Amino acid sequence: MESKDILNKTKEEEAIQYELKKLAQSLDVMKDILDHEYQGMVLVDTEGKILKFNYEKLMGIKEKDVIGRHVDEVIDNTRLPIVIKTGKKEINDIQKIQGKDMIATRIPVVKDGKVIGAIGSVVFKDVRELKPLIQRIETFEKTFNKYKGEIKKMHEATYSFDHIITQSKRMNHLKEVAKRAAESNSTVLIQGESGTGKEYFAHGIHKASHRRYGAFVRINCAAIPKELLEAELFGYEEGAFTGAKKEGKLGKLEIANGGTVLLDEIGTMPLEMQAKLLRVLEEREFERIGGTERIGLDIRVIASTNEELEEAIVKGKFRQDLYYRLNVIRINVPPLRERLDDIPLLTRHMIKDLSNRIGVDSKEIAPETMDILQSYSWPGNVRELRNVLESALNLVKGKVIYPEHLPEHMVQHSCKEKINAEEGLLLKDIVAQAEIKAIKEALRKAKGSRTEAAKMLGIHRTALYKKLGAYGLDITKL
Ligand SMILES: Nc1ncnc2c1ncn2[C@@H]1O[C@H](COP(=O)(O)OP(=O)(O)O)[C@@H](O)[C@H]1O
Ligand SMILES: [Mg+2]
Repeated sequence: MESKDILNKTKEEEAIQYELKKLAQSLDVMKDILDHEYQGMVLVDTEGKILKFNYEKLMGIKEKDVIGRHVDEVIDNTRLPIVIKTGKKEINDIQKIQGKDMIATRIPVVKDGKVIGAIGSVVFKDVRELKPLIQRIETFEKTFNKYKGEIKKMHEATYSFDHIITQSKRMNHLKEVAKRAAESNSTVLIQGESGTGKEYFAHGIHKASHRRYGAFVRINCAAIPKELLEAELFGYEEGAFTGAKKEGKLGKLEIANGGTVLLDEIGTMPLEMQAKLLRVLEEREFERIGGTERIGLDIRVIASTNEELEEAIVKGKFRQDLYYRLNVIRINVPPLRERLDDIPLLTRHMIKDLSNRIGVDSKEIAPETMDILQSYSWPGNVRELRNVLESALNLVKGKVIYPEHLPEHMVQHSCKEKINAEEGLLLKDIVAQAEIKAIKEALRKAKGSRTEAAKMLGIHRTALYKKLGAYGLDITKL
């Protein structure tokens, strides 16, 4: 079996165990009732003679008065003699005893392949007794399904460290730090610009930790309105406030219990919530809004931010004590422009992945396109690179991605930067400007046909491509 299969298997087992734990709660409800006086049990031999009998409370008949008698004479409508003959158990059959409906179960006792007797048991004085139980189980089931649905829907970590594609030394070092962090229970603070892969790190830590079968819950502190954040984190009881869902709601912290919670964009958390969060992290306990029960918290916290929290502290926007609580293991993910070496690797990887997803043939990337990608500043980091590649894949008709398939602002930016950098070399600059002008004119005259334009300019078509790339010219915009 492959290790992936083993992982899946264990995961399934974990899920089943989780369900069993929850179902045990409903069995507790049943035990309450079974402990009650409403159950009866009878054991008979192969001839149907009573060996053991405890229907006293239920039917008012004492055991000593019936031992040795035929069960037919004692219990109305009994089917135990039939079960002895057929050897087949009968579960949850409705049986009328003393004018009342009972739920009967009859099981043959088998030894060495032979039926040697039978056990009959009835539960509940009356089927009506079942109603409150059924209602309780139904309520329980609703809560249970709510749990199950929510956990399935959003509480699994999708990515692992393997999804973090990099050849950069700094990034690989961070992956090592994160792997080590995964082995501990310590809080991790991940800082980095948007789109640098902070969430991938958080997923990776969860997946590599012993909590991987627990839920991975992400809370985007920036996306949730201030007023709702508390309810989102802690959940609330039935009718805790106006506008609250009738049946109450589980908080993300509670759902994450046993797993990992990612507090994304923690820098945007209102100060008041920061104080509450700090208290909960220190006490490792919390209450639902409107609730009285203290719920123990067993979670690993990962916080991420694209802001410099140290600055936010100075500005009075972030609590220093919370910062110290969170900043136990620190991961600073560098922006893409500080690891330009990663671009070819990421590009190749993402083109493959995206073309698979979009359902097109994989494309090559022209060297001049790669030049532009590697000279751009990537304010949106890897996420932006991915978007640029996706849009290029949608535009490109042939097999190669040329600069013209990149967004205009990138090409212009890169072109401007190139010329700016060469400002000192006046001649080169003038030549470049002249070439750009000539190329633009030729392309216009050739109505965009690069073959025609190349002919007009007296250069080979590939030479023109190179120049287009080098100057970052987008022919669709000329
Ligand atoms: N190292 C990486 N390797 C592959 N894809 C990455 C990497 N870093 C980021 N990405 C891509 O960028 C997107 C944004 O990453 P994410 O972790 O959500 O960033 P952040 O949380 O820092 O804003 C991801 O969905 C993924 O497509
Ligand atoms: Mg993010």
